[in-house]
Amino acid sequence: MASAIAADYKDETPLFIGVLNGSFMFVADFLKAYQHPCEISFVKLSSYNGLTSTGIVETLLDFPENILGKSVIILEDIVDTGNTLKTLVHLLANTSVKEFKIATLFYKAAVYKGEYAIDYFGIKIPDVFIVGYGLDYNELGRNLKEVYQLNQNTMINLVLFGKPGAGKGTQAQFLKETYNLKHISTGDVFRFNIKNGTELGVLAKSYIDKGELVPDEVTINMLEDEVVKNPNAGGFIFDGFPRTAAQAKALDGFLATKDMQVNATVALEAADDVLIARLLERGKVSGRSDDQDVNKIRHRFTEYNQKTAPLKEYYQEQEKFYSVNGIGTIEEITARLTKVVTTLTSA
Ligand code: AP5
Ligand code: MG
Repeated sequence: MASAIAADYKDETPLFIGVLNGSFMFVADFLKAYQHPCEISFVKLSSYNGLTSTGIVETLLDFPENILGKSVIILEDIVDTGNTLKTLVHLLANTSVKEFKIATLFYKAAVYKGEYAIDYFGIKIPDVFIVGYGLDYNELGRNLKEVYQLNQNTMINLVLFGKPGAGKGTQAQFLKETYNLKHISTGDVFRFNIKNGTELGVLAKSYIDKGELVPDEVTINMLEDEVVKNPNAGGFIFDGFPRTAAQAKALDGFLATKDMQVNATVALEAADDVLIARLLERGKVSGRSDDQDVNKIRHRFTEYNQKTAPLKEYYQEQEKFYSVNGIGTIEEITARLTKVVTTLTSA
């Protein structure tokens, strides 16, 4: 990569900007291989990347001030879905650099969702979790000299349980990144289908608009499809599924055919008035038809109390039920969940 970049830039003095923390080893080795005039700086973005529903990524260490008029080349350790990159591209597009390019050591081309085409990459890798040579697993392993693929023999499958607005989707964003899990929200899959006007979407809409559950046969098949689509997942977060006794039994049966099981059901508990306030607030911006009317929200609670709440006993009998206080800041609740999930992974 250093020679490819040198071929394009050796006659000027580019500014390389490493993205912390992950890129520090790569940047050091890259610069040893790039023996032409250049400047070097670093940028650091908050790791809360994707945690908030607004997707705001905070800059902790900003671009250097002397960026004006320069040719900037971002040095990333890894590009996967491209969330961080999107923020970087956006930030750079708003500065007066001469031009900017993106170079990454590892590139997960199959999962990259960004619109920006990567300019230089070292190695294309499949969608696996890697650690070492600057890359971390929960902040550990950055000092390993080689790069390792995480061996997820201990697959964990979590069910996130809780009333509408309890924070299932919000907390799933965090859990999936920390534990390298695939997040499946049946509500999100329905909304995706509604947006694209599919047959499934049209059917689901007629129930969701009223705050009612979509029939089991439809939902169960859809969930199974989502699992089958992800054969390399290190585990799943089921968000909003199961919601009925029939769905819970179907899930157990289906996972058993794949030598898998539900390891834990974690319930986020919060009072109705708090949930109503959260949902109405979201309804102002989300466009979700089921968030804008108190009567529909209350109907979702009734559906939950009648059909979903009894699953608590189902999972208690299997000794898999954990209750977590869902009131507090997002970070406080994340910490409570981490405590529970960590006991599972270290068991
Ligand atoms: P679904 O999309 O699953 O909706 P839901 O269960 O009603 O839950 P929400 O997504 O509204 O809430 P959440 O717990 O994810 O909370 P969030 O993190 O978003 O299902 C929608 C519909 O699809 C169903 O009604 C049904 O019709 C159908 N459906 C889905 N699955 C089905 C199934 N299995 N069977 C049959 N039908 C099915 O947080 C909510 C808001 O609060 C956000 O704005 C968030 O920013 C905010 N917030 C979160 N945490 C906090 C906090 N700690 N403090 C302050 N604000 C917070
Ligand atoms: Mg949700």
